[in-house]
Amino acid sequence: MEAFHYRQHRLLAEDVALADIAERFGTPTWVYSKAAIASAFDEFAGAAAGRRVLVCYALKANSNLAIIDLLARRGAGFDIVSGGELERVLAAGGDASRIVFSGVGKSRTEMQRALEIGVRCFNVESESELRRLDEVAGALGRRAPVSLRVNPDVDAGTHPYISTGLRENKFGIAHEEALRVYRLAASLPNLDVLGIDCHIGSQITTIEPFLAALDKVLELVDSLAAAGIALKHLDLGGGLGIRYDDETPPSRAALLQAVFERLDRHPRGREFEVLFEFGRSIVGNAGVLLTRVEYLKTNADRHFAIVDAAMNDLMRPSLYEAWHDVLPVDASAPREAAAWDVVGPVCESGDWLARGRRLAIGEGDLLAIMSAGAYGMAMSSNYNTRPRGAEVLVSGDKAVLVRERERVEDLFAHERRLPDPLAG
Ligand code: LLP
Repeated sequence: MEAFHYRQHRLLAEDVALADIAERFGTPTWVYSKAAIASAFDEFAGAAAGRRVLVCYALKANSNLAIIDLLARRGAGFDIVSGGELERVLAAGGDASRIVFSGVGKSRTEMQRALEIGVRCFNVESESELRRLDEVAGALGRRAPVSLRVNPDVDAGTHPYISTGLRENKFGIAHEEALRVYRLAASLPNLDVLGIDCHIGSQITTIEPFLAALDKVLELVDSLAAAGIALKHLDLGGGLGIRYDDETPPSRAALLQAVFERLDRHPRGREFEVLFEFGRSIVGNAGVLLTRVEYLKTNADRHFAIVDAAMNDLMRPSLYEAWHDVLPVDASAPREAAAWDVVGPVCESGDWLARGRRLAIGEGDLLAIMSAGAYGMAMSSNYNTRPRGAEVLVSGDKAVLVRERERVEDLFAHERRLPDPLAG
């Protein structure tokens, strides 16, 4: 069963009516389905059964503690990109030894903390970072486990802002530089060279780019072995796409199967533990943004539904022109449909969530912005001093609050009025 579905014209999250959630928690509110998150993760885990695989959840997609907690309990590892995300994993009960630390700009403090708690691996993205990590580890009297993120120069065929594996991107170490940087890594006294890592982009909807990247990685693994550098793991990153509109991404299992088949053709393919860093494909379709229509208005032939969620809540449409389906929470209304631009209250023309959607709506109606579980709340801001919405996790017929709605006073709690010497 789909996590979000209609029963007698009412839109439900599992067995809870979204209208009841709006009543209880207000709007805008993010609603997540526990079953959908669990089954997405379990599909990866099931496809990996019998192999040495660690599916790391990329926290950046949605870092709510309840979601981390539920994935930790199912055996997930975690892919983090900041000291903040690291603390979230620990706060949610996740295991440090299952954390991989990605990102191009790790600070000394972040490195120290990660070494102290004992993360599984640092995915290092440059020579300077490698030297810094060696120095920080040396000062702590520890050895840092590392993998180098190589840039396989593969076109993921996705939006340029979320494509990361091309030569011109800031990410990773160029393929032709990799051997030299690995030699350097192997020569530094406080590093343990464990693996190789790549991530070519996000919302990828075909298997081919993943396999092309894997081929490039395997080529490097062979040259490294010839140079006496033996690796233990391959981290193939994340990036599997989901259906927002009519995309037809491969299933999670099909992607893993294809990767394993390709690995099995390599003479030493079975020797490596395989890591993945999936974000969107675990939580994307498991969440919606529930919002209420405040006003309807028509300007120069365009119909606007002004809702109480905005670009500060869900940035994807304004940032990437991303498409999210919009569904009425009560589909029984006998109104006439028109083409609506669903927009928010923020003072920017770019503040829209959907455009030209045929909807039968009236003021006060509730709408669900679909597939908002990934890169929704996680990318939100307080622009226009808008408190961010609540987050609610549904399981069966239960709905629990997993993040309180912000209060306005929270938003300026860290600010000060003019102190005395500057006043007047
Ligand atoms: N690993 C690394 C190193 C990454 O940079 C990312 C995402 C992931 C894993 C997880 O990728 P996923 O499985 O979620 O595709 N804000 C954009 C997406 C940015 C993705 C950034 N990196 C969006 O809303 O579409």
